[in-house]
Amino acid sequence: MRAATWAGVDEVSVETVPDPAILNDRDVILKVSRTTTCGSDLHLLGGYVPAMRAGDVLGHEFMGEVVEVGPGVRDRRVGDRVVVNSFIACGNCWYCRQELYSLCDNGNPNPGITEGLWGQSPGGCFGYSHAMGGFAGSHAEYVRVPYADVGSFVVPEEVGDDRALFASDAVSTGWMGADLAGTKPGDTVAVWGAGGVGQMAARAAMLLGAEQVVVIDRLTERLEQVRRHVGAEVVDYSTTDVMAELRERTGGRGPDVCIEAVGMEAHSTGVQGVYDQVKQQLRLQTDRPSAVREAIMACRKGGSVFVLGVFAGPVDKFPLGAAMNKGLTLRGAQVHGQRYMPRILGHMARGELTTEHLATHVMPLEDAPRGYRMFKDKEDGCVRAVFLPHG
Ligand SMILES: NC(=O)c1ccc[n+]([C@@H]2O[C@H](COP(=O)([O-])OP(=O)(O)OC[C@H]3O[C@@H](n4cnc5c(N)ncnc54)[C@H](O)[C@@H]3O)[C@@H](O)[C@H]2O)c1
Ligand SMILES: [Zn+2]
Ligand SMILES: [Zn+2]
Repeated sequence: MRAATWAGVDEVSVETVPDPAILNDRDVILKVSRTTTCGSDLHLLGGYVPAMRAGDVLGHEFMGEVVEVGPGVRDRRVGDRVVVNSFIACGNCWYCRQELYSLCDNGNPNPGITEGLWGQSPGGCFGYSHAMGGFAGSHAEYVRVPYADVGSFVVPEEVGDDRALFASDAVSTGWMGADLAGTKPGDTVAVWGAGGVGQMAARAAMLLGAEQVVVIDRLTERLEQVRRHVGAEVVDYSTTDVMAELRERTGGRGPDVCIEAVGMEAHSTGVQGVYDQVKQQLRLQTDRPSAVREAIMACRKGGSVFVLGVFAGPVDKFPLGAAMNKGLTLRGAQVHGQRYMPRILGHMARGELTTEHLATHVMPLEDAPRGYRMFKDKEDGCVRAVFLPHG
């Protein structure tokens, strides 16, 4: 079959790879109908995530049709139209029983690398390096889905593909951030980053009852999408002092909840940004945390900061003093999507949650190298490049 693979730093190629097969009883094989790029893939392309090998199939946000079912699968049938969560979880271990699915003890068959990095290993993820399990990704004609009863969800008939697709990762991640940050009715929520994840965190916060939601970015097309499709307020950080603006809009108090949806390659206009970039490029720090710093500084006393953006290792100039003295709750996670996808599909079916606007560029899988380039450079307003493996 054809698949888009990692071919080295900033290189994606499309090649012929072996078809996947059922390896375990609880696997299904999915014929991929749609698969899309995520900001997390940019960290892979940039070479910031360890243990990628040339030839690894990329992609973790996808949907498709079940074409083969392992003997241990209970609830999926050949022909089911499903959307699959990006993280792989068994459904039975202690973490899965707490609904902390991305921390599954059985999702990553290769835990040694992340145990070395972080003390313990989270679960596995499709197409996300050998550190995260070495699973083949979804930018392919077919993909093996382990623990399919736990990670795949039948899409209601009334939800179209360009809506359902994003329940896989962007929406479930955004929803998790808004929920686990403790968003309550009446809250003010600020979100850094207007990519797919940040936009969906903002929408989730609204559906959870937040009274005021503000999204911060510098890309005008994305800020325009936030206004039109999400219905939140916006701040352009390239022309506005974010701290002062947030204080101003919240009667001097600051947001109750701050969600960071930018990650380790954050852009920064100040001296600190140059410092971070140089240190990251010299491999003296692995990540550029400018949006996390700003979220901690802007958050109201006693508020909550949730880090959705992906980070890999130690960071510098981390305002621990502000977090401690302001009594903040600081939390982060990879997506526990299995916990939210049924509710998300319900909101999608009722038209309360729309995502079609994120699919700015739809193309055949053969064009994946071009799609990745556009997504990385945010060319032509690209928010997500969606690939169609079967035309
Ligand atoms: N926790 C999870 O499970 C999970 C899942 C999916 C994605 N992610 C991560 O979430 C992050 C966002 O993903 P995405 O797909 O939306 O990415 P994206 O690259 O499409 O969007 C990132 C946005 O952040 C903006 N940005 C950069 N620096 C900023 C700053 N200092 N302040 C405010 N905005 C800034 C960019 O302009 C861009 O619009 C990435 O780090 C990704 O790896 C995490
Ligand atoms: Zn992702
Ligand atoms: Zn588990």
